[in-house]
Amino acid sequence: MLELQVTNDLHRLFQNVHARSRRVHKWHHYFDIYEKYFSEYRDREIVFLEIGVFEGGSLELWRKYFGNKARIIGVDINPACLQFQEPDIEIVIGDQSDPEFLKDLVNRVGPIDIVLDDGGHTANQQITTFEYLYHNVKVPGIYLVEDTHTAFWGGGYSDRQDQKSFMDFAFERCRSLHEWTMRQSAFWHLGTPPTLREPGKIPVSDFCRLTNSISFYDSVVVFERALREEPWHEIR
Ligand SMILES: C[S@@+](CC[C@H](N)C(=O)[O-])C[C@H]1O[C@@H](n2cnc3c(N)ncnc32)[C@H](O)[C@@H]1O
Repeated sequence: MLELQVTNDLHRLFQNVHARSRRVHKWHHYFDIYEKYFSEYRDREIVFLEIGVFEGGSLELWRKYFGNKARIIGVDINPACLQFQEPDIEIVIGDQSDPEFLKDLVNRVGPIDIVLDDGGHTANQQITTFEYLYHNVKVPGIYLVEDTHTAFWGGGYSDRQDQKSFMDFAFERCRSLHEWTMRQSAFWHLGTPPTLREPGKIPVSDFCRLTNSISFYDSVVVFERALREEPWHEIR
């Protein structure tokens, strides 16, 4: 029988049900992904926001993992989740597909270091949440959407008029990452040393300028925010 490999602290915390009072629902292979992107944020004064509280166990897990300096916030549509509020865990009730709620959330919470979308998992929820929260993630920062396999489930998960899934949306964002390099006409401009070229000649979106990478895993998409400079190529 295949043995479960538990290779990092967060996975160990998940496995140890005696270390918390509430249940958590996660796929095992997510823990390596979390570790890869989240470990550098441990023991720091960060703002961590998870959409999807369920029984409150994941917020307990995040508190233990990130330590006491972190501000841990959970968002859920279900008012019953307020029972999981603690002096050091904030719960905000609202619908992640409601632009008015999301605008209010941004004002209330301020800039965020890490957003984890583990909410209702429909395309409309995931895309609307991204559209309103992504720009509010700090640079550098992380925006992680999980359970993206729901994009392939059809039915209620394609709840948008345009039939776009979150995976379609994420692929389009990959295209935006290439706004500098995708124009063949810009090739020689980008072959001029940055100090010698006309700055800002190629207009790009904030998404392009402020996103370093988009990584696809089975069921998880991770966006890394970081300030990018115009790329440069040379023959030497
Ligand atoms: C998969 S569970 C969250 C699991 C939890 N993060 C954990 O790891 O144990 C999904 C949660 O999303 C919430 N949810 C569903 N639709 C939502 C919406 N439109 N806005 C906000 N939360 C929603 C549900 O009430 C449920 O608690």
